[in-house]
Amino acid sequence: MEPALETIGLTYRYGDREAVCRLDLRVGRGEVFGFVGPNGAGKTTTIKLLLGLLTPAAGSVRVLGRALADDRPGVLRRVGTLVETPALYGHLTAEENLDIQRVAFGVARHRVAAALDETGLGPVAGRRVRHLSLGMRQRLGLAMALLHEPELLVLDEPANGLDPAGIVDLRTLLWRLAAQRGVTVFLSSHILAELEQTVSRLAVIRDGRLRYQGTLDELRRAHPGGLRITADDPARAAEVLHAEGHAVTRAEDGSLRLAVTSVDEAARLNARLVHAGLAVHELRLSTPSLEDIYLRLMADAGEVGR
Ligand SMILES: Nc1ncnc2c1ncn2[C@@H]1O[C@H](COP(=O)(O)OP(=O)(O)O)[C@@H](O)[C@H]1O
Ligand SMILES: [Mg+2]
Repeated sequence: MEPALETIGLTYRYGDREAVCRLDLRVGRGEVFGFVGPNGAGKTTTIKLLLGLLTPAAGSVRVLGRALADDRPGVLRRVGTLVETPALYGHLTAEENLDIQRVAFGVARHRVAAALDETGLGPVAGRRVRHLSLGMRQRLGLAMALLHEPELLVLDEPANGLDPAGIVDLRTLLWRLAAQRGVTVFLSSHILAELEQTVSRLAVIRDGRLRYQGTLDELRRAHPGGLRITADDPARAAEVLHAEGHAVTRAEDGSLRLAVTSVDEAARLNARLVHAGLAVHELRLSTPSLEDIYLRLMADAGEVGR
């Protein structure tokens, strides 16, 4: 089956400033796909290109197997979107807001109750929107995006302004849509950790360029941790480790760092050091946190991964 979303060499400029540069994204059907990058990375610009709200300077967008440029209205009928905060009438109830959208979209009446139900808003359907919490309004925005039963949901920073419980609710809702209805979800965030338990695959961008695309597991595997050793005589310990065939760097605190990720090799090196008469105070294998990996991706030059 064709991917739900595909961009090839997607490029966009504001004046002569390149905001999106030769971006190749590929989102499979039924995936919950994360689009991550710091503020100003080009996420919103990309999303506007995906929805045909901006026209690319170069490259192309395919949505649900169709070229966006060929049939934008036809394609977008099958897509639900929430770009930043939803436009809502504060003096109307949640249900009335949905009903306006329903008429505009030409959707059957029963979809209002269904969308309220899908987003857990049933109990507040009759409440005026201005009395709803930010999390509830965000959910109402989602309900609006779901009204016409889209096959693909494109959400720009939907977790913005939500508290941790709200983020968990959002995650549960998105997974349910993907698992039960086969909806593909594309959502952006400037916080990688926020997506950690939400997405099946992700793309990371910086300065409009792809830095990584793949699963979180692959990302972790591509950034293994290392071995840290503290011994009473760092200089001699470094010699011993060097003689064992390892490149060793010395940190400011005197601890030694090696590109070793295997427990067996760590144990073997420990034995060698002790055998050489050194006192090993600390020996620790570390795995970088997702945040560490994100920082590395933001710092490295050049393109990585696909
Ligand atoms: N309307 C605009 N005119 C000029 N520059 C813009 C405009 N919108 C965004 N930019 C610039 O394009 C870059 C990408 O912005 P944006 O897509 O909003 O990033 P993100 O959503 O990841 O924060 C930023 O440098 C931003 O300042
Ligand atoms: Mg943005």
